[in-house]
Amino acid sequence: MNRRDFIKNSCGIACACIGISAISLLQSCEDNKAYEQNTNEGGTTPDSDNQIVVSIQDSQYQSLTNVGGTAVMSSNSIDSLGLLLIRSSETQIKAFSRRCTHSSYRVNAFNSQGLAVCSSGHGGSFNTNGRVAAGPPNANLTSYNTSLENDTLTIFG
Ligand code: FES
Repeated sequence: MNRRDFIKNSCGIACACIGISAISLLQSCEDNKAYEQNTNEGGTTPDSDNQIVVSIQDSQYQSLTNVGGTAVMSSNSIDSLGLLLIRSSETQIKAFSRRCTHSSYRVNAFNSQGLAVCSSGHGGSFNTNGRVAAGPPNANLTSYNTSLENDTLTIFG
């Protein structure tokens, strides 16, 4: 084998190795994408698409037809501990997580004083704006964007 043939053969082998490596790398990326998609199946959908739509004419939410009315939503794809809902005006319903910001216990429905008391017994509570009304929590409840069109409430996760 002369020098020219050696270089020609070596370049061919090197190009073949690079091609195989590139295909393996691309295959690996596809596998990761498939894994991410599979882990979302049967659970929550990606946040950008995650929304819940309900009618406030449903018996469970009818209190929301009046300003000041409140309701709770059980575990769902937006929040595993559920949501607190309050009709804050003619045009708006606010939605808050029921996950207490102290130690993640569930927060109870708003009571007649407009307080959502934590179920832990630690003494924490939140007002109808989701703000801490009594410690030990030192952070407000997570709030979610909503829209209200006629009787249709959409909550965005
Ligand atoms: S977990 Fe809610 S006050 Fe402690």
